[in-house]
Amino acid sequence: MKTNRNLFLAVLAAVLTACGGPRPASTVGTTPEVERRVDQLLAKMTLAEKIGQMNQISAGGDPANYAEAVRGGQVGSILNEVDPVRLNEFQRIAVEESRLGIPLLVGRDVIHGFHTVFPIPLGLAATFDPALVEEGARIAALEATAQGIRWTFSPMLDIARDPRWGRMAEGSGEDTWLDARMGEAMVRGYQGTQWDTTSMAACIKHFVGYGAAEGGRDYNSTFLTERQLRNIYLPPFEAAVKAGALTLMTSFNDNDGVPSTGNRFVVKDILRDEWGFDGLVVTDWNSMGEMISHGFGSDRKEVAQQAIEAGVDMDMMTYGYISHLEELVRSGAVKESAINAAVRNILRIKVMLGLFEHPYVDAAAAGAVQYAPEHLDAARRSAEESAVLLKNDGTLPLDAGRVRTILVTGPMADAPHDQLGTWAFDGQKEHTVTPLAALRERFPGRVVYVPGLVNSRQKRDRFDDVVAAARQADVILAFLGEEAILSGEAHSLADLNLKGSQSELLAALKATGKPVVATVMAGRPLTIERDLPNCGALLYAFHPGTMGGPALANLIFGDVTPSGKTPVTFLRTVGQVPMYYSHNMTGRPYQGEMLLDDIEAEAGQTSLGNTSYYLDYGAYPLFPFGFGLSYTRFTYSDPALDGTTYARDGVIRASCTLSNTGGCEGTEVVQVYVRDLVGSLTRPLKELKHFERVTLQAGESCRLEIEIPVSELAFWGLDGTKKVEPGDFQLWISGDSASGEALSFSVR
Ligand code: NOJ
Repeated sequence: MKTNRNLFLAVLAAVLTACGGPRPASTVGTTPEVERRVDQLLAKMTLAEKIGQMNQISAGGDPANYAEAVRGGQVGSILNEVDPVRLNEFQRIAVEESRLGIPLLVGRDVIHGFHTVFPIPLGLAATFDPALVEEGARIAALEATAQGIRWTFSPMLDIARDPRWGRMAEGSGEDTWLDARMGEAMVRGYQGTQWDTTSMAACIKHFVGYGAAEGGRDYNSTFLTERQLRNIYLPPFEAAVKAGALTLMTSFNDNDGVPSTGNRFVVKDILRDEWGFDGLVVTDWNSMGEMISHGFGSDRKEVAQQAIEAGVDMDMMTYGYISHLEELVRSGAVKESAINAAVRNILRIKVMLGLFEHPYVDAAAAGAVQYAPEHLDAARRSAEESAVLLKNDGTLPLDAGRVRTILVTGPMADAPHDQLGTWAFDGQKEHTVTPLAALRERFPGRVVYVPGLVNSRQKRDRFDDVVAAARQADVILAFLGEEAILSGEAHSLADLNLKGSQSELLAALKATGKPVVATVMAGRPLTIERDLPNCGALLYAFHPGTMGGPALANLIFGDVTPSGKTPVTFLRTVGQVPMYYSHNMTGRPYQGEMLLDDIEAEAGQTSLGNTSYYLDYGAYPLFPFGFGLSYTRFTYSDPALDGTTYARDGVIRASCTLSNTGGCEGTEVVQVYVRDLVGSLTRPLKELKHFERVTLQAGESCRLEIEIPVSELAFWGLDGTKKVEPGDFQLWISGDSASGEALSFSVR
């Protein structure tokens, strides 16, 4: 079956717009034909077969063990099997040997690429380039579906404002607007523009609030108010639902005492009823069972009932539905209509993906798609765009003609597995090009490699070997950071400085007087303030993926000009957590008062200003959100608005001149921020409402024209509704969240 989903959605949208009608009945873009097939199938199913569809199990161990369950119709989906031959065999059992022949939905965590690994999602967010992110997701889908995987548990849309939380690596950082745009792009890329055998269902996760875990400790409780949910955490999910995401995963956390997998308010009331989501809702791994550990239910039967009542369709690895739902229905505790609704949501996705027509893959051909040259090329471009230049005293770009001997050092210089980052199960280190490998290939005989530290945690007192090599070199390239294992699920940290003796290594290199370029690969913004003085330039590369090496070589030697911007605030010290640009204005904003050191100098001082800041670290981060340098310079001039007062259904047209006043071509991420000066609630200091990448030649200028619908200024207020409040606003067009000239306007 091939349905032109885009055409269908376009027609549907046109009809609804013309009628000024309500939200579409279907968010996933089903058709009457799909529904007819789902109904037909459902009518043939026994209660046990229906519940079987609601059960997802993990492959692993002896396949014979679960082949029997598949044959018996007790499994709707499997995860964690990637071998196309074995997957074909499971599909054969499901299709040819189970009573109704319903194919399996095969899931996998394809988070930032399948075999070809792209930068971690936090790095992808630093590109501010949804088109490139969509291209990467499409490539991931091409590679994964070729092996039989038709469902990825991605994108992760959790807003993360605490870098101690290891899963910050897997999302787009701190900002709601950026997260929403990246989520939509990934959904489009994974699912494709039409349903065919390369469509991989996206799973938006984790619903909801998971990134706000207390203390940054994974799985921890969250305490988000409904307004925080609606204004900050839910919009990326709503945007991804509107973009057609087929599935959604509930999260591990309890919010204000209610675990997500049993949270009727967020799943049933908001997702299902308000947004009309008719896709598949799956639990996270055993998150149904963990409601017992949370103390929210006393046994699997009770939590299974809580989950089905909340609107959860599929159980990932609790075996709660398969063990207890039949009994719950027979006793009347759960209505069969609830089971039917869940099974419809599951079958609908299977029909839409064409699994009934194409349950098998061509296992022999699957290999040819992996690591295709154009995939590697896109991975390299993504890594180039994701790197953020945080410091440059003119050391970069290096002139290849002037540096004869290049010292490469540091624990991340040749760490093929670690540069892939977290959740890169299928990336293979044999295919990964490290900076060392890329530099050696580019400069045969000119690269001297002395690692200095075998891993990021190693402690050394002296670096005589590295320093001796540095003295002989023309330039020092130090690759520092943290290994993949230090970020990702369950990998939270309380200390965010460079680990081990990395800072000491950098200081020793600096002391040689040779130019030092530091590149940091990490899953989060580390606190690198103390390291900045010890390098001439610092590139923040996150974990850059398969093609990280060539990308970094291109950046360091100036073939490519850095254009990445920080997708999250970089802190001076971990004690500043949480610090993010879009915080609400306090009653006593910082006025530049005295810090601790000054107090000591002025003995007797007692009044310290009484505003909001740290005595020892002040009020500002190391680098604000949206920040990133280039090898050229961009200036913003003559910002203007096309009006002073706008109607609530109007469009703000903002413009400004962007000039490349430096010496080379470059790309600037232009950002637009807005502030609602007075609201019925205190409002964020600034909120991102638009961004775009603009490429200009040296000396070139252009006039940017940017449209912001006034409706984008709406927020959920005290009365529980979302609206634009009339009043005064400010708008900035700038290269980061901390600069720019404020333009004033009002909305009536
Ligand atoms: C647990 C993780 O929280 C989730 O993100 C992932 O998709 C599942 N495990 C499946 O691996």
